[in-house]
Amino acid sequence: MSQRKILVTSALPYANGPLHMGHLVEYIQTDIWVRFQKLSGNLCTYVCADDAHGTAISLHAEKLGISPEESVARINVERLRDFGDFHVAFDNYHSTHSDENRRLSESIYLSLKANGHIVSRTIVQAYDPEKQMFLADRYIKGDCPKCGAQDQYGDNCEVCGATYSPTELNNARSAISGAAPVYKESEHFFFKLSDFADFLRQWTRSGAISTEIANKLAEWLDAGLQDWDISRDAPYFGFEIPGQPGKYFYVWLDAPIGYMAAFENLCQRRKDLDFDEYWHKDSQCEVHHFIGKDIVNFHCLFWPAMLHGANYRTPTRVNVHGYLTINGEKMSKSRGTFITARTYLEHLDPEYLRYYYAAKLSSRIDDLDLNTEDFVQRVNADLVGKVVNIASRNAGFIKKRFHGQLSANDGAPELTAQFQAAAEGIAGHYEGREFGKAMREIMALADKANAWIDEVKPWVLAREPDKTLLLHDVCSTGINLFRLLMIYLKPVLPAMALKVEAFLNVAPLTWQDSQTLLFNHPVNTFEPLMTRVEADKVAAMIDASKEVLASMEPTRQAPAWLEPVADEITFDDFARVDLRIARIVNAELVEGAGKLLRLTLDIGEPEPRNVFAGIKSAYAPEALVGKHTVMVANLAPRKMKFGVSEGMVLAAGPGGKELWILEPHEGAQPGMRVM
Ligand code: MSP
Ligand code: ZN
Repeated sequence: MSQRKILVTSALPYANGPLHMGHLVEYIQTDIWVRFQKLSGNLCTYVCADDAHGTAISLHAEKLGISPEESVARINVERLRDFGDFHVAFDNYHSTHSDENRRLSESIYLSLKANGHIVSRTIVQAYDPEKQMFLADRYIKGDCPKCGAQDQYGDNCEVCGATYSPTELNNARSAISGAAPVYKESEHFFFKLSDFADFLRQWTRSGAISTEIANKLAEWLDAGLQDWDISRDAPYFGFEIPGQPGKYFYVWLDAPIGYMAAFENLCQRRKDLDFDEYWHKDSQCEVHHFIGKDIVNFHCLFWPAMLHGANYRTPTRVNVHGYLTINGEKMSKSRGTFITARTYLEHLDPEYLRYYYAAKLSSRIDDLDLNTEDFVQRVNADLVGKVVNIASRNAGFIKKRFHGQLSANDGAPELTAQFQAAAEGIAGHYEGREFGKAMREIMALADKANAWIDEVKPWVLAREPDKTLLLHDVCSTGINLFRLLMIYLKPVLPAMALKVEAFLNVAPLTWQDSQTLLFNHPVNTFEPLMTRVEADKVAAMIDASKEVLASMEPTRQAPAWLEPVADEITFDDFARVDLRIARIVNAELVEGAGKLLRLTLDIGEPEPRNVFAGIKSAYAPEALVGKHTVMVANLAPRKMKFGVSEGMVLAAGPGGKELWILEPHEGAQPGMRVM
């Protein structure tokens, strides 16, 4: 079989928050597919990048009081660590805010323009007079025109489900500054998607996407394609449009071009990769994208049309997966199921999750449920109970009785032949992204191996001196069956495969190695490969996710526009809040807490109060010691990861460095009530 040249991408994650379990569905799925291709001997290249542009990213940075570049760079560091720890192995991880991407975006835009696919017209759009910027619908809030619910987004009401345009909102205000929006004209640039209707009709039925998705898109195609607005006015974090000062590419214009940019950047240091060979119109190389179902229109309409219009090749395949639910529901912060990649890693082995996702994944776009009980049960039963068990049942005898040397004979030729013959079917499942089917087939083989061992009973043979040769053949065969299973599992369990290669004393296993067996071969001492998942670790992870939320909850620090303005309260309500002057007797850093300081507060009681405050971004601990401030003294104690917080200190400001604790001066003494 000839070597395929395959470029693979995962969607470029937005650089405005931590990776979570939902993202990992995609990156783990893609990584498994890529590892399978590499194992099979194909030249497969996996690239990704930070999606760095757009309003969400610049607002996130602003909230932290830093530049978007700085914010993107910080998130990039955490993210690469998360990916690495989950064994997601990119050949290159780049950024859309890069020179390559600027050049490619400009040139693609200019060819679309030269080919007559760009038009401009004036539109009227909401504008924040205070912040001096145009507002996308989701940055406008107000009262629902249908049911009157307050604080609803500009395009739909979360209370009654009505959809409307932001101009219909009552009491509309900018979610950024709180100012009432005005409506202003502005010239925008549009990509004439309708020029590509025929092309898209054909492309969507070319095998590049599943029929399931093609049917969905057909509804859009039949309804008629709208021009796509690809420009945004300054201020905008992105690339300025050539020849159009003050106009920027909309983030979704340059984001998919980021796939090409990441690859081009890699080509500069990989002599075996040639950008044009992969991207020119008649390229024989393959390009595979992996994405979630929420971004299908960008990848299956706009993106192929852009590529076609700019005279590049189009994707071989766009692979779409469903959304992750946890215990049957959307990830939820209050239930502790909004689990970040890092929180998971602090409690559990990444390969448990890789296996669990693999077992659940198919080529369809159904949502995928992580059920925490099923997770524990499945990983323990399959990986520990079935697979690892085969090795541990045989390795001891090989070591103790046969000096670690495998025998010269196949003790169960029919079984080993059956295992080897399974390679093709399992490969087909990996290729077709039917990982669940692949895992079921592998586990069925593991069951057969265990049943055979139960039948031949090496532990009985071991007690009969005249059965030594048979014992040797049986245990050696057990090890060989285990080896075959590990070859099939290697795309999913790369770290375990590494340990197994060390135990087997072999070069890195390839798919082709499944067609050979080990005879007369010395193996090393067997080390435990994987421990059981403990249910209490899963529970601890869920608890920690609630606490991470609590420690992320200096939402008090966030600009007021992120928080609903509190309702009016009565004087009695106010009187229930016990506000006191506190003297900060000690302040210190909290290990592992990004934003928190631990404060020791004297409020005139015999015991000082311990309070965690999210003010690390604004204060060095030593700068706080000795200051007076105001605290809520009767807030219910709250258990956090780092200890119990017994109250809350008050601070004001937009956040980041711009945050000030309240500092009463003159005669106010610790313990005095604030009224
Ligand atoms: N930046 C865009 C993609 C640009 S690609 C040129 C984006 N970023 S994202 O960070 O929101 O999502 C990255 C990927 O993770 C997307 O494919 C998205 O579908 C996927 N997922 C995000 N949350 C998810 C779940 N809860 N479940 C499964 N996949 C999810 O979209
Ligand atoms: Zn409503």
